[in-house]
Amino acid sequence: MSAPAVLFVCLGNICRSPLAEAALRAEAAKAGLAVDVDSAGTGNWHVDCPPDARAQAVAARHGIDISGYRGRQVTAADFRRFTHIFALDSENLQNLRRIRPSDGGAALGLLMDVVPGRYTTTWFRAIQPGEYDLVCAEYCGTGHSDMITKVVVHPAGEFETWLRQADERAQSLSPLEAGRRLVIQRCASCHSSDGTAIPNGGPSFKGIFGQTHTFRNAPPAVVDENYIRESILDPSRKIREGYEDRMSTFKGQLTDKQITNIIEYIKSLR
Ligand code: HEC
Repeated sequence: MSAPAVLFVCLGNICRSPLAEAALRAEAAKAGLAVDVDSAGTGNWHVDCPPDARAQAVAARHGIDISGYRGRQVTAADFRRFTHIFALDSENLQNLRRIRPSDGGAALGLLMDVVPGRYTTTWFRAIQPGEYDLVCAEYCGTGHSDMITKVVVHPAGEFETWLRQADERAQSLSPLEAGRRLVIQRCASCHSSDGTAIPNGGPSFKGIFGQTHTFRNAPPAVVDENYIRESILDPSRKIREGYEDRMSTFKGQLTDKQITNIIEYIKSLR
């Protein structure tokens, strides 16, 4: 197998891709790995330009000097020279697919960063039925090695059937079971259900219902349905004593019914 050669591609090659290049270079050097790393843009506006001053400042904060980097545009030869090409958003990926030469062997991927305190979404135009790997590319904390899944692209027409069946399955779940599943998917990175403390997370849900909690910024309150709903929609309103204000709102992320199901589940954790 040839040594890995990785190219990061964004639009202009002055912000996102030079930072990704610098980060991988630094980590590879630290780990003593020989990796050929470079970056490029799909557009040609910033050819031969240094990275944006704000990107340089971010790199400098991590002790890395990227002032000598220069912008360049991705070429057909890149698809032969690199083993992996990572696009930094789905539009960049779409453009790479468009210009990829027929003999370009590089594996194309998408690298999306999750910024603390914000929700990140990404969207694929699924054109090729099949199963694709989805892995977490950062050492994100407890359970990182479990963060592996597959994106399944169904042939046209099949997806609608799958969706209808999945919806029927979800409708037939009890509120408590539906709530349990939502908590595992959406909350379990910060809240346990069995009393275990999660480092840098929030309190365990076990046994909280009916307790009186004290807060850093509000008078004490009893944990009831309304308090849980408020915690989900407006988490900073009452910050529990001994914890940080780390939770982002789920407003617009969960339906009213889903919130009610979560409450049912938390109530059951005696
Ligand atoms: C990124 C981590 C994080 C995620 C994800 C998260 N929370 Fe929290 N949550 C916290 C932290 C930290 C606190 C404690 C600070 C505070 O009160 O806001 C908290 C507090 C709470 C409280 C108050 C608990 C108490 O003991 O008084 C509830 C209820 C709650 N979260 C529900 C949820 C639900 C439901 C979800 C999923 C839909 C969720 N949280 C997702 C971090 C998180």
